[in-house]
Amino acid sequence: MENINSKYYKPLEQMMSVRHQYMGKIISLDGRPNIYNFFKNRHILDLGCGTGKFLHNYYELGSICSGVDLVKNFQFQNKKNYKLINSNFQDFLRKNKKKFDVIFIFEFLEHLSLNEREFLFKYFPKILKTNGIVFLSTLNRNKISTFMSINIAENLLNLLPKNTHDPKLFLKPSEIRTLSNKNGLELLNVQGLSYNPLLKSFRLSEIDLINYFATIKN
Ligand SMILES: C[S@@+](CC[C@H](N)C(=O)[O-])C[C@H]1O[C@@H](n2cnc3c(N)ncnc32)[C@H](O)[C@@H]1O
Repeated sequence: MENINSKYYKPLEQMMSVRHQYMGKIISLDGRPNIYNFFKNRHILDLGCGTGKFLHNYYELGSICSGVDLVKNFQFQNKKNYKLINSNFQDFLRKNKKKFDVIFIFEFLEHLSLNEREFLFKYFPKILKTNGIVFLSTLNRNKISTFMSINIAENLLNLLPKNTHDPKLFLKPSEIRTLSNKNGLELLNVQGLSYNPLLKSFRLSEIDLINYFATIKN
């Protein structure tokens, strides 16, 4: 992951609108139908924030945003209420004293070792406010997701640079539930997403065999 450049993040931008749609759906389940009002003045932490572009949308909606990434490919300047921090997430968490309403870990978990995952989930209760939420997307671990992410996305369609993924690190939703429960958190929802290579777009799906979203609650 050390040598990634800004091109690596382009395909991820195709996921931005479906993430927003997914979060809107979850927020409305809680009786708060307006995602725009929901994000106003909320403290958001985006771990593995990449360029910071996705997080910037929520800064524009009035959130107080912090993004952390090991690699400095940031596309935006820091300003009041929008800070991007070039750091390993573990170093950041050890030093951090803030609590957050919402944490984003989109396409992040599948790049962490088992120890790093354990570390992260242990920190969630410490850094989430009461009723705080973690929104994530990741890759399921099975033969189909390995075939689609490596053979199709990396090798055939060239959507992602080769060796972006190590399928051994993909996670089943049940593993996210176990990690959550172990740390006093609740896995609230899991929802699949599917990719249309012709339209270059993702949409919500009932099938969570490849990519999926999940929501965890404090
Ligand atoms: C697949 S990208 C996802 C970027 C962004 N979340 C998105 O979906 O557009 C994974 C990101 O996690 C970052 N990353 C991987 N390991 C990390 C670590 N230990 N600490 C902080 N960032 C890390 C990588 O540098 C990369 O930017």
